[in-house]
Amino acid sequence: MPVQKTEKIWHNGKFIHWDDAKLHVLSHVVSYGSGVFEGIRCYQTLQGPAIFRLREHMQRLINSARIYRMELPYSVDEFSGAACELVRVNKMGACYVKPIVLRGYGEVGVNPLTSPIEIYMACWNWGAYLGPEALAKGVDVCVSSWTRIAPNTLPAMSKAAANYMNSQLIRMEASINGFAEGVALDSDGHVSEGSGMNIFLVHDGTLYTPPLATSILPGITRDTVMKLAADLHIPAKEAVIPREMLYVADEVFFVGTAVEVTPIRSVDKIVVGKGVAGPITRQLQQEFFAVTSGKTPDRHNWLTPVSAPVAATR
Ligand SMILES: Cc1ncc(COP(=O)(O)O)c(C=O)c1O
Repeated sequence: MPVQKTEKIWHNGKFIHWDDAKLHVLSHVVSYGSGVFEGIRCYQTLQGPAIFRLREHMQRLINSARIYRMELPYSVDEFSGAACELVRVNKMGACYVKPIVLRGYGEVGVNPLTSPIEIYMACWNWGAYLGPEALAKGVDVCVSSWTRIAPNTLPAMSKAAANYMNSQLIRMEASINGFAEGVALDSDGHVSEGSGMNIFLVHDGTLYTPPLATSILPGITRDTVMKLAADLHIPAKEAVIPREMLYVADEVFFVGTAVEVTPIRSVDKIVVGKGVAGPITRQLQQEFFAVTSGKTPDRHNWLTPVSAPVAATR
């Protein structure tokens, strides 16, 4: 679905018109993928629009930039304030917020250090990532023939634009073969993650998810699900997961800002459990949506109302 324009985009501390957020084709990021970004959801809660785990996303943005030696002149609080103001000025309710830090127009060689850093933040309307039925019915996935980026090649902990070339290979292969998504293995052949989401499975009543050292992005939804599992007294562990566990697991599901909590009903055409969302997936999904909709008290302080009065422009 083509992106639906909003009015304003935040650029280096000021709001500009959507159509004016343009780059020169020789900007460093265009040739070399030198950008880091975030994907954040603002939910229309019962108490008004509120951004989910805003500070954690902004901290990850800063961490992603730090790994690539990009110095940012804004703090977590300043970025968070800008995100709230952005949603307000665009008069949005539920939406997706995307801050992007990139190396802009300057020198054209590989060395990024001489190109200026530009920071943009946009928001727009975005629905269910894998289609409206995915959350209810689950999705069919395959194990990708593409391996996730290996340790000490591209750092998986940084949410960097360049990493998404690997994600695109995973996603294209899956789509072309009729699957909703692909699950990548790490360079040792252990389960890593999807093209833009982390993965969990349930085996004998325990929840498992791959650890950071298996080339995953440290997902904020992954962290949310681990905390919700603790609240619900569901045992949960990080563990190195062999590929074949996906075929014998009782339940498998994806998590991420885009996919939220999406059940997986088959892997490589082997049906997971009964082929519908299992009880632990359902319980976690319900709790996730209860929190993000504001129906359940925000006991972890995960929602920032966009009306929060923080200065965002300079
Ligand atoms: C590669 C990858 N893994 C995992 C995730 C899930 O992370 P989060 O829950 O913070 O959105 C994302 C989404 O940002 C992603 O792009």
